[in-house]
Amino acid sequence: MLMQALFGIDSLADRKLSVQDLVSIDQLALADLQLIFALAEAIKKSPANYAGALKGKVLALIFEKPSLRTRVTFDVGMTSMGGSAVFLDHSEAKLGERESIRDVARNLERWVHGIVARTYKNKSVVELAEHASIPIINGLTDLLHPCQALTDYFTILEKFGSFQGLKFAYIGDGNNTCHSLIDGAAKLGVELWIASPKGFEPKERIVSEAAKFAKESGAQIRIVNDPVEAARDASIVYTDVWASMGQEAETEDRAAVFADYQVDSELMSHARQHAVFMHCLPAHRGYEVAPSVIDSSQSIVYDEAENRLHVQKAILYLLMK
Ligand code: CP
Ligand code: NVA
Repeated sequence: MLMQALFGIDSLADRKLSVQDLVSIDQLALADLQLIFALAEAIKKSPANYAGALKGKVLALIFEKPSLRTRVTFDVGMTSMGGSAVFLDHSEAKLGERESIRDVARNLERWVHGIVARTYKNKSVVELAEHASIPIINGLTDLLHPCQALTDYFTILEKFGSFQGLKFAYIGDGNNTCHSLIDGAAKLGVELWIASPKGFEPKERIVSEAAKFAKESGAQIRIVNDPVEAARDASIVYTDVWASMGQEAETEDRAAVFADYQVDSELMSHARQHAVFMHCLPAHRGYEVAPSVIDSSQSIVYDEAENRLHVQKAILYLLMK
């Protein structure tokens, strides 16, 4: 199945997104998501066709937090399209501390053609986008992880061919990944169930914004506290860490609160026979997921990780070409 045909996209040449930055999925139109998916599929199939697409272009990677997948896939993605990436380690000095975010933006735009930023405050990425004339891509904040969620929906489409008739269960913390999955579900018309412990549900602001888009798309977004209710008859079971980057001091307390939310073989037995297991990674075996699930044939976590490369190449191409 060609996603381009599925979405009725005539040609992928010279197409642009409706936005200049990728800060949050809720700012994208459905057509933007479909274009990203179709182009990612084309790039994945024939990477050589895009080998010189970003020749001479430079991407700055500003990271306040650690990363394996996001950092490597953006760097490799640029190189494989003829461009390059420069890494700015902001783990010591947060963005805006040494000089204003506005000045960082106004300097970088003179030398590079795009910026990926991974920050604690979502506001830092928003501010960069406000002040820079070059594209800003959100590489994860405390609030959102849009590149991850776009990749996850691309991966689901690859596996199932459609979002129709699929129940998607997210089990665990109502965190950044969860928020962006909600934003994506709302645009794409997905049936998404989220099971979190009381007090750890996704932010009300994200859920109510998504509800507005869900009216248009037909998405159903359900927030519950019972993991079995979410996992029952699900085609996709997804989880993420219980303590996100920046919450390390809460690790032990959270492990106690989330103990009943581990995705193990018992929970998977409530899902459909063909169900897949997904996780954005890094994973903690024995905490949010049992080894018997993440290391089983149902697990597609490494396909998800691979697809970060193809989807983000599509995003870079669409924003920077
Ligand atoms: N999933 C993800 O964003 O991984 P990294 O934190 O390693 O970039
Ligand atoms: N929720 C996790 C995602 C890591 C990719 C975190 O923020 O640490």
